[in-house]
Amino acid sequence: MLFSRRGGPGARCLLILLLLLAAWGAGSGQLHYSIPEEAKHGTFVGRIAQDLGLELAELVPRLFRVASKGRGNLLEVNLQNGILFVNSRIDREELCGRSAECSIHLEVIVDRPLQVFHVEVKVKDINDNPPVFRDREQRIFIPESRLLDSRFPIEGAADADIGANALLTYTLSPSDYFSLDIQASDELSKSLSLELRKSLDREETPELHLLLTATDGGKPELEGTVQLLITVLDVNDNAPLFDQAVYRFHLLETTANGTLVTTLNASDADEGVNGEVVFSFDSGISPNIQEKFKVDSSSGEIRLIDKLDYEETKSYEIQVKAVDKGSPPMSNHCKVLVKVLDVNDNAPELAITSLSLPIREDAPLSTVIALITVSDLDSGVNGQVTCSLTPHVPFKLVSTFKNYYSLVLDGVLDRESESVYKVVVTAHDGGSPLLWATATVSVEVADVNDNAPAFAQPEYTVFVKENNPPGCHIFTVSARDADTQENARVSYSLVERRVGERALSSYVSVHAESGKVYALQPLDHEELELLQFQVSARDAGLPPLGSNVTLQVFVLDENDNAPELLEPKVGGSRGAVSELLPRSMGAGHVVTKVRAVDADSGYNAWLSYELQLAAGSARSPFRVGLYTGEISTTRALDEADSPLQRLLVLVKDHGEPALTATATVLVSLVESGQAPKASSRASMGTVGQQAALVDVNVYLIIAICAVSSLLVLTLVLYTALRCSVPPTEGACGPGKPRLVCSSAVGSWSYSQQRRQRVCSGEGPSKTDLMAFSPGLAPSLNTSERNEHPEANSDVSGNVSPTFELWL
Ligand SMILES: *[C@@H]1O[C@H](CO)[C@@H](O)[C@H](O)[C@H]1NC(C)=O
Ligand SMILES: *[C@@H]1O[C@H](CO)[C@@H](O)[C@H](O)[C@H]1NC(C)=O
Ligand SMILES: *[C@@H]1O[C@H](CO)[C@@H](O)[C@H](O)[C@H]1NC(C)=O
Repeated sequence: MLFSRRGGPGARCLLILLLLLAAWGAGSGQLHYSIPEEAKHGTFVGRIAQDLGLELAELVPRLFRVASKGRGNLLEVNLQNGILFVNSRIDREELCGRSAECSIHLEVIVDRPLQVFHVEVKVKDINDNPPVFRDREQRIFIPESRLLDSRFPIEGAADADIGANALLTYTLSPSDYFSLDIQASDELSKSLSLELRKSLDREETPELHLLLTATDGGKPELEGTVQLLITVLDVNDNAPLFDQAVYRFHLLETTANGTLVTTLNASDADEGVNGEVVFSFDSGISPNIQEKFKVDSSSGEIRLIDKLDYEETKSYEIQVKAVDKGSPPMSNHCKVLVKVLDVNDNAPELAITSLSLPIREDAPLSTVIALITVSDLDSGVNGQVTCSLTPHVPFKLVSTFKNYYSLVLDGVLDRESESVYKVVVTAHDGGSPLLWATATVSVEVADVNDNAPAFAQPEYTVFVKENNPPGCHIFTVSARDADTQENARVSYSLVERRVGERALSSYVSVHAESGKVYALQPLDHEELELLQFQVSARDAGLPPLGSNVTLQVFVLDENDNAPELLEPKVGGSRGAVSELLPRSMGAGHVVTKVRAVDADSGYNAWLSYELQLAAGSARSPFRVGLYTGEISTTRALDEADSPLQRLLVLVKDHGEPALTATATVLVSLVESGQAPKASSRASMGTVGQQAALVDVNVYLIIAICAVSSLLVLTLVLYTALRCSVPPTEGACGPGKPRLVCSSAVGSWSYSQQRRQRVCSGEGPSKTDLMAFSPGLAPSLNTSERNEHPEANSDVSGNVSPTFELWL
């Protein structure tokens, strides 16, 4: 048979089957063949001529031809041998799609006679199509938040083959996250999905690449694959994250307004708006921080917007919140600690809290005067305050406690030398540059009665003319007290003592306040030449202090006593003195001497004698020694002289005005042999009022004594002087007795001057001076004028100058 080419028992069975079919087909006029698709060109299909009962030889003459409807010439008949063969490639899927039966219908036509045969060639499927996915990759978007066991459908593959060749099985590349879930509704249609086996995290695995493989059931099996590109969608599941929980910064308190403190960096692992961070201060932040800092919401910059002050706030703890823009938003916190560093921007302050002023000048050392508190708002060395004091004050600062000082006395005070101290307390801190402050304390020193009233001199000499009017002011004592107020209020009093029989206070009194010394009654030089007493000055302090001054009141003589004639011892009765004189006496014989005294002193007691000539008795043989009072003969007596000579001798002192007395001397001239006896009678005469101007030839010897050494200067003036004692001015004032002398070359005067010490033989030296001062500038050197003090002061205080005079 025709199928013998295919050997083996299988082929034989098939051949038998085909023969039976051919016989059935011939009977019904239809032939059936079958070939696999994709057979090669020339593949034998069947002996169509024979099977149709046609002779090979008659094929051509009967115009054997095969026609197929619209299928072209997939199959061809060899007219030589009548065999149907594959002419071109037959694709079952192209021919029939996915229908299970697929055959090619042939019409065989022969002419003469015209016969039509129908031949059916069945095309058998082979596994020539792999499973095919529609796309090469499938993109799947899955939010990372999806729960486990969630399913995500995926597209399966298609296989153009049929039957087992199209029966697909799927496998998924291994993955932790997904497994493949296949739901088979029927044999050929299956629903594929991915099932979530592990939670997704976009931040960890933003994308997954899986490979899905489909395998068909053909032999050999074919497979197709698809890339599953899984994109994990972001969900706002990450909060912004600061890289530190706490940021620490140090800022000087002088940091400028606007300075950038830091830029915060918060990262958010999420994407897009979920990762966009907004910064802000925590809602509960204190207003104090809000005033000082601001944060930029997008950049995270924290800036200063005000001045810092360490003394106000030493540190800031700023809570910053970072929130993303996701929905719902997520947030996080961080803490920014800003420590403010101190700068020496505060000067120390000084406060003088309590003062105990004024301070007594006798206050003991360490007496507290003031309490001083210092403070400095800065800290550390910037706030360490050191106090100091102006130098050279009798005070010091004692630190009682940190920043507390006492101003205490550290020296001796004397209000009289310094009554107020300006004490400057300086406080400086230890900063760099250091700052300082000062405070001034005016320390007033209170007076203590530590100074007695003091007189300028321990002793004063006062001259008072006698016969002063009662109650006249003779001197003023004055004592100064260096203290103040009551302690310096001086009152004066007499230091009482007895003067002879009487109390001192009957002579003088002192006005308590003014210190004026008054003579209470007229003084009498002849009774009291020197009144020496003390005046006491006391202040009003508690207790009072006092001191004494000595006053030497010299009562100056006035010519208030007329010369007084001394009675001769002979004879009992007062009256004229009688002398007997031998007539034989020659010239120059001293007859008698008129004796007179004057209770006054000095010039007032310096007596001179003059003969008062009776009228007509021009030839009187007598003269009287001007200062001796000796009456002597000037010539030899003769008979012409009257036997009884009555001589009137005027005794005159040198007071101003001069007082006089008149002595009457009776001289009886007796013849020789008679006892020469002259009697004279002095009688108290009337007191003349004329001034005595005397022409004298004077050898003036003045003994001068200086303070320290006894210097005797003999001044000899060999010239004629005319001297007088002019009356002193003022009845009461301290007199200055003056002797005025004039000569051919000029006039001279001496005066007693006070405040010059003259020495005396004993006792304290006298403060008298007797000086000669020329009215003109004569031969006497002016520089010597004040250096010729009167030396001869007797113990009784008689300061009247005593001259020794030779005629
Ligand atoms: C913020 O931090 C991230 C991660 O630490 C870093 O890459 C980035 O440069 C930082 N940004 C700034 C402005 O510092
Ligand atoms: C600090 O600077 C800001 C902005 O420049 C200003 O508004 C503010 O008044 C300044 N503060 C002080 C205390 O100068
Ligand atoms: C002053 O003199 C009186 C009497 O002599 C005496 O008691 C007193 O102590 C004296 N005062 C002074 C300060 O010397």
